[in-house]
This record gives sequence, structure tokens and C-alpha cells, in this order.
Amino acid sequence: MRLNQTKSQQLFRKAKQYIPYGVNSNFRYWGEEGTPIMARGAGAYVWDADDNRFVDYRLGFGPVILGHAHPIVTQRVAEAIQNGVLFAATTPIEIELAERFTRMTGMDKVRLSNTGSEANMHALRIARAYTGREKFIKFEGNYHGNFDYVMFSGPTANAKLLGSRGRPHRLSATEGMPAAIRNYMISLPYNDSEMLERALIQHSSEVAAVVLEPIMGNVACILPDPAWLHRVRARCDELGIVLIFDEVKTGFRLANGGAQEYFGIRADLAAYAKAMGNGFPISAVAGRAEIMAVVEPGRVAHGGTYCGNVVAATAAATTLEIIETQPVIDTIFANGRRLMTGIGEILGRRGVPHVVTGVPSMFSVLLGKEEAPTDYRSYSEFDAELFGLLGGELIRQGVLVDDDPREPWFMSYSHDAAVIDETLNRVEDAVNAVFGRAGHPQAVQRAA
Ligand SMILES: Cc1ncc(COP(=O)(O)O)c(C=O)c1O
Repeated sequence: MRLNQTKSQQLFRKAKQYIPYGVNSNFRYWGEEGTPIMARGAGAYVWDADDNRFVDYRLGFGPVILGHAHPIVTQRVAEAIQNGVLFAATTPIEIELAERFTRMTGMDKVRLSNTGSEANMHALRIARAYTGREKFIKFEGNYHGNFDYVMFSGPTANAKLLGSRGRPHRLSATEGMPAAIRNYMISLPYNDSEMLERALIQHSSEVAAVVLEPIMGNVACILPDPAWLHRVRARCDELGIVLIFDEVKTGFRLANGGAQEYFGIRADLAAYAKAMGNGFPISAVAGRAEIMAVVEPGRVAHGGTYCGNVVAATAAATTLEIIETQPVIDTIFANGRRLMTGIGEILGRRGVPHVVTGVPSMFSVLLGKEEAPTDYRSYSEFDAELFGLLGGELIRQGVLVDDDPREPWFMSYSHDAAVIDETLNRVEDAVNAVFGRAGHPQAVQRAA
């Protein structure tokens, strides 16, 4: 089955005339043939420039928790913008949002910004100011955004170059960073209590923060080992280190109180974004009152022209109101669980070695092995190319997933039982096309 994407291809050629690679974020470039041009979305569906319809499991890399163009969010934003969008002053909607946000997350204080990168950047600065220390611990495969301090050994690192487990290299994710900046970060494998202990013995008096993704939302939703997570919390308490949870993907997606509620562990500071605004650009750094108290005019900088603007604050206040007052997370989990199980059964019937990792609101499908990965190194033993074949076929069948298995399948409140039925039928067809008798012999051979 081939999609007609004539118009998309024309538009992509035009985009490249003005925009490097035709995309406004490198992660959106899927090659000369496959880079999509999307025209619109509604609920669980998106349509490309050629009007091909897809069930959307990318959801803009996670934010669209209620579904595209949610009518209530859209209506409230449309009403609000009639009265102006930016005043360089606190507005009533920011206060309403902050009250609901702190109640849902259990955090004492919150400051708003626009992107997940900004929220993490501020969290790190606040932790450094609070402790008077400069270094921080970060884990291999964790992604915290597009600012220099954290861009080492992330989800795009070549796992073969990470060095030995005992002496991990800090691989930079981009050119253009000052070389010395790597000296501020200590890179460790995820879920490894022994390596954590070793690093703390060596560096604890210099470490301001441990920053982590409480589910590896940029590497196949690898789950934290609860014992490791508790150990991280306990050692941070003992050593006066600020524990930062990067809840950019997990916040308002795992539970109303995010990963902290889901795993029963409190962070000192946390960064939120994505699901908070159902696609509108908003983020937050939040935390314990004592730590957030360092944010003070003339002391620790936090700010930005658009922080808390009316568009984003209205979208977030409405999105959180819906999440808090309707069974959003429970519904997503029930439907997501059925999808995860169904995909596993389809692959199992075809004898394809696989594991479905993560939680029902964000999960990944990994092929080639059956044992769940525990860190970036064990993830790299799976067959990403084989998933790429299946992902490409799913897209042709009208199920939009990232064809890179590191990026999760995201669920929304609009992915109801009928959408899951439709998806499972298409997954069955795609699996048959890739692994069936008429499918790619290469795929069958690779799966064997
Ligand atoms: C866990 C995590 N942290 C931070 C970010 C950066 O957020 P943004 O792209 O909004 O700057 C992302 C983006 O995907 C993320 O997944």
C-alpha cells in the first residue's frame, strides 16, 4: 500500500528553500522521502497536506493529552484572546492555574515558562543557587532539552561509544558547545545503584542536583527500578542534593500528580511542560517552598517575556481543569492497556520476538528480544531497523507512530475504544505485511 503524498512532497521541497531541512526542529526530519507535512488535527486523528488521515500516536511528541483541537480548550483560548494576550504583569488566569497546578502536583510553588528546556534550565539554576554547588548528575539516554549543560549522552548518543559502565564517556549531542561545559555534569547509567554510589562517594560535596526522567520518555519508556529510585531519593536527602524530576513527558500523563504520584516518590524540584497545555506552549518549574524561595529579584534569575502569557495560561488552566474533573487518566490507561496488550498478542501470534515497554499512557514497541531493557545500553541491543520497517508500514496503513522505537506511542483522552479497535486492525495488517509470507524476507529473517 502506498500513500499519495504528491502535495506534501511539493510543500516539503518549498519548505527546504527557506527552512534548513524543511523542519523547525531537527527531530522532525524523516529523510527526503518521509518527512511529513501535516495540515490539521481533530481528536485522535491528523490529516496530512494530501488529506491522508492517520490515527495519531505522536501527539506532537506527547503534549496533546486530550486530543487535537479539543473544543473546550479551543473555545476558552479563543474567548480569552479577544482581550489581549500579553501585559508584562500577573493576570487572574495565571493565579487560577497556579492554584490548580499546585493542588494537583503537590508542589508548594510554581513559576511558568514556555518550553520544557526552559523549565529544566531554571530548575538546574535554582538547585545550584540553593546548594551553592555547581555539578549535577544526569543519566545516559535521558533528555532534558536543548540547552548546553544537559546535552550529553542523551537519546541520540551512539551506545557503542559510551565507554565502559564503570567509566562512562560524556558524549556531546551537538557541535557548538564549549568543551569545558562537560565538566559540570556526571553521566551515569540509569537504574544502576552501584554506579550512583561510586559517583556520590567521589563527588557529593560538589553535586547540586540529580536530574532524571522518572520514565525514560525518550528511550522506549524504560521504567525505573523502584529500589533505585528510592535509593536516589534517600542519598539526595543524606547529602543535601536537590532531586529534580524531569516530568516534561510524565507530568499530567502518568497521574494527576505525575510520576511522583505514580511511583510514590517526591522530588524537590520538577520540570513540567507537554501535557500541561494540550499542545499550547507552556512549561513550569515547581518545587518545595524552601528551595523555590531562592527565586528572588536580584538573586536568582527566572523570567521571560512570554512566561505565563494569556494564551498558554488559559490553555493550561482549561486542560488541567478537564484532567482534574474528568476521568482522563483512568480512561487513557484503560484504553492504552488494551492497545499495549493487543499489539503484544499480534506480534506473539507471528512469533516476532518483542517487548512492549512503559505504561498505558506512553509506551514503546521493541523488536528483536524479549527481555525489557533497563538502561540505554540494553535498549541498544534491540533491532531499531526492524521496528523502522514496521513503523513505516503502520504509517502507510494510517497509524502515525514515530518509526524510531525510542519515541513513545502516546495516548490521548480522544483515543477511545473504537480508535483502539481501528488501530489494532491496522497493526494486524501491518505486522502481516512486514512479517507474513508475502512480506519482506529480510524482516522475516531478522525476526527469526
Ligand atoms: C523529558 C523531556 N525533557 C525536556 C524536553 C524539552 O522540552 P521542549 O522541547 O519543550 O524544550 C523534552 C522534549 O521532548 C523531554 O522529553
